[in-house]
Amino acid sequence: MRAKVKRIFYFCMFLNHNQLDMEKKERAGFSSKLGVILASAGSAVGLGNIWRFPYEAGNHGGAAFILVYLGCVLALGIPIMLAELVIGRRARANTGNAFQKLAPGTPWKWIGLAGVLTGILILSYYSVVAGWTLEYIGEAVTNSFAGKQAEDFIGSFNAFTTHSWRPVVWAVVFLLLTHFIIVRGVEKGIERSSKIMMPTLFLLMLLLAVCAVSLPGAGAGLTFLLKPDFSKVNSDVFLGAMGQAFFSLSVGMGVLITYGSYFKKETNLTKTAFSVGMIDTLVAILSGFIIFPAAFAVGVQPDSGSGLVFITLPNVFQQAFGDVPVLAYLFSVMFYLLLALAALTSTISLHEVATSYLHERYGLTRKRAAVWVTAVCVVLAAGCSMSLGVGRGYTIFGLTLFDLFDYVTAKVLLPVGGFFISLFVGWYLDKRVVRAELTNDGTLRLPVYRLIVFILKYLAPLGIACIFVNELGLL
Ligand code: PHE
Repeated sequence: MRAKVKRIFYFCMFLNHNQLDMEKKERAGFSSKLGVILASAGSAVGLGNIWRFPYEAGNHGGAAFILVYLGCVLALGIPIMLAELVIGRRARANTGNAFQKLAPGTPWKWIGLAGVLTGILILSYYSVVAGWTLEYIGEAVTNSFAGKQAEDFIGSFNAFTTHSWRPVVWAVVFLLLTHFIIVRGVEKGIERSSKIMMPTLFLLMLLLAVCAVSLPGAGAGLTFLLKPDFSKVNSDVFLGAMGQAFFSLSVGMGVLITYGSYFKKETNLTKTAFSVGMIDTLVAILSGFIIFPAAFAVGVQPDSGSGLVFITLPNVFQQAFGDVPVLAYLFSVMFYLLLALAALTSTISLHEVATSYLHERYGLTRKRAAVWVTAVCVVLAAGCSMSLGVGRGYTIFGLTLFDLFDYVTAKVLLPVGGFFISLFVGWYLDKRVVRAELTNDGTLRLPVYRLIVFILKYLAPLGIACIFVNELGLL
């Protein structure tokens, strides 16, 4: 009997030891330089670039919106991304705890907590659209696009997204995929998938852009994309462009605080932020070069809303490669697969923010923390998805739950988060700390240091505030 008790005791010790070992490893961080950039770019590049950017640009008149968007990326997005990396690497903690660590006992902690909440809201409605990509992979694999016309694609998109359970099932499947990668940990899951997927996606998009531009009738799309009509610029354009910049760069809720906490001390933060910003912008613009020429070529309105990419792209495959059906088939399968993977590296980053918070703050195991996050998101995602179909009659401020989540997160919560993050680094954090992080303790030369601090102190907070005040009609 005694021997048995002893054995159980040793077994428990072994389990406990293993657990501690795992916990230590879990803060291992990203291993290579390329991995750091790719994982952050993996978070940034996703449905925001390929689905949301064209539909926002289309709703706001095209070229002029894109110019304002580029301004927002440079003046607000990239500097605030850098501010997040500074906070994360300095605090070595997840978003929810980072402010608490750097500014103990102050209300700054609410910014971190708001970030965790924002992440959950984005993840919930984002996985609905990510689920759509899974349905489209199925359509592509079974060759269902073949022989269809533009109107057929509109009809089938509407029928699918308003279906009572199909899109809900796909959203749940997507959340479960995210869940399993998160449970496997940072390094293996996030880094490895980004390394292969990102360059492939980029090449495929380049090819599709060439095809789209050479479709007959594509010229009008290029004009829409490149010739700004400034008479269309109003306060909504500014708010839309700012929201899109924050959303697309994954900035304003602490994804990059959490990722920054895994960065090595040798990582050059400024270079990383700049590279990620550039990659992200390039993919968005490339997506514009695919969608608008194609939309005009096949007679789809550029402001046809959240279905734009899903309605337009199958046409491109059919029209550009109609003579070689094998190519049409291969490219459509590959495209939706890569789109789903791009979305996955973004949902992973959103999930990681909440999971690492619950794990580190409340001492739950990573697995248990992830289960909570996934469970909450499944419920919210089902609500968002059904709000487009069976629940269409129920609106809040005239918006469906799906649109409400999109509006509140991209156009309110992320910019407000960005506003406070820039104030935190610009005013609250000791400038010696900021300088040490940006120059890796003085080992890097950083000629733009003053510019960065100036932007974080004045330009970014004032810019965001002006856009809000302008939207409220007070300016
Ligand atoms: N940037 C991601 C995309 O473009 C979405 C995202 C937003 C991810 C905010 C994390 C945080 O798809």
